[in-house]
Amino acid sequence: MDGLLRAALGALDGAAGCTQIPNPAGLDRGTRTYRAGGWKIKTMPAPALRLHHEACVYQARERQGLHRGTRHGHLDDGHPDAGRWLAVPWVPGPTLWEAFAPARNAHGSSAARGGLLDAALAAAAELRRWHRDAWLHGDVQPANIVVAGRAAMFIDLEYARHPRLRLPYPYRGGIAETTAPEVARQLVDSQQHAAELHPEAEVYALGAAIRWAWTGHPPAGRRDPGDAGPGRLLHAIAHGPPRALREDRPYPFPELEDLIEQALHPDPHRRALP
Ligand SMILES: Nc1ncnc2c1ncn2[C@@H]1O[C@H](COP(=O)(O)OP(=O)(O)O)[C@@H](O)[C@H]1O
Ligand SMILES: [Mg+2]
Repeated sequence: MDGLLRAALGALDGAAGCTQIPNPAGLDRGTRTYRAGGWKIKTMPAPALRLHHEACVYQARERQGLHRGTRHGHLDDGHPDAGRWLAVPWVPGPTLWEAFAPARNAHGSSAARGGLLDAALAAAAELRRWHRDAWLHGDVQPANIVVAGRAAMFIDLEYARHPRLRLPYPYRGGIAETTAPEVARQLVDSQQHAAELHPEAEVYALGAAIRWAWTGHPPAGRRDPGDAGPGRLLHAIAHGPPRALREDRPYPFPELEDLIEQALHPDPHRRALP
């Protein structure tokens, strides 16, 4: 067993029946994620900068009364498994991606629409709260939003930041598929391949996440299986026309389409969330 996982399990009460959550698309991002009883545990070998920052984000949000129950620890330097672990309470409920699966899988079905709109509205309300409290998430995507009843929660806070908790490494964007055009332009056109993030870009990212989860297609299309990295997709987002929602939607759904179109407005200042 991963020595970091063993350390986490030893420190946590009620961490039974541990299962690993595979990284999406088999991507090796250096971290491993597990569910153990009431906990979600993430481990990362040394120097574990991203996991250290994520732990700092959770701690800062706890101090602000925005989160509860974070635990974290590390192994001593020099140990072969040296690194860090972070545990947060498991939130019961589907991710946004899972919540919209019926729409993607059963074409033409309009069943359970109210539930989909509620999930989208809950995610929008949560993003508005993040921005009201001066937080930016940095990786808004369908797998990083858990829908718990009428509430939604953002997880995976490795790129989150606040005026009093800066990101300690250059920001190269979150997942490419939900990247806003103005962020994509910075990433593909700048020498540093780093970008500034603003709330309006996250409003776009949420619109893109909901569009992707509902239709199966993010605004500029999916990555070609042969693409080595996100470069081509970022180019398409930065400089190409977006796909028409009408052509991708599984069925007409005016309320949800309005929400998506308003969030994806090409002019950042004209984007809005309900
Ligand atoms: N607190 C949580 N409650 C419920 N599910 C979670 C929680 N944290 C993570 N998950 C599930 O685990 C997956 C991976 O966790 P995440 O923090 O996004 O790690 P990664 O860095 O591998 O993307 C999520 O997409 C979600 O399905
Ligand atoms: Mg994630």
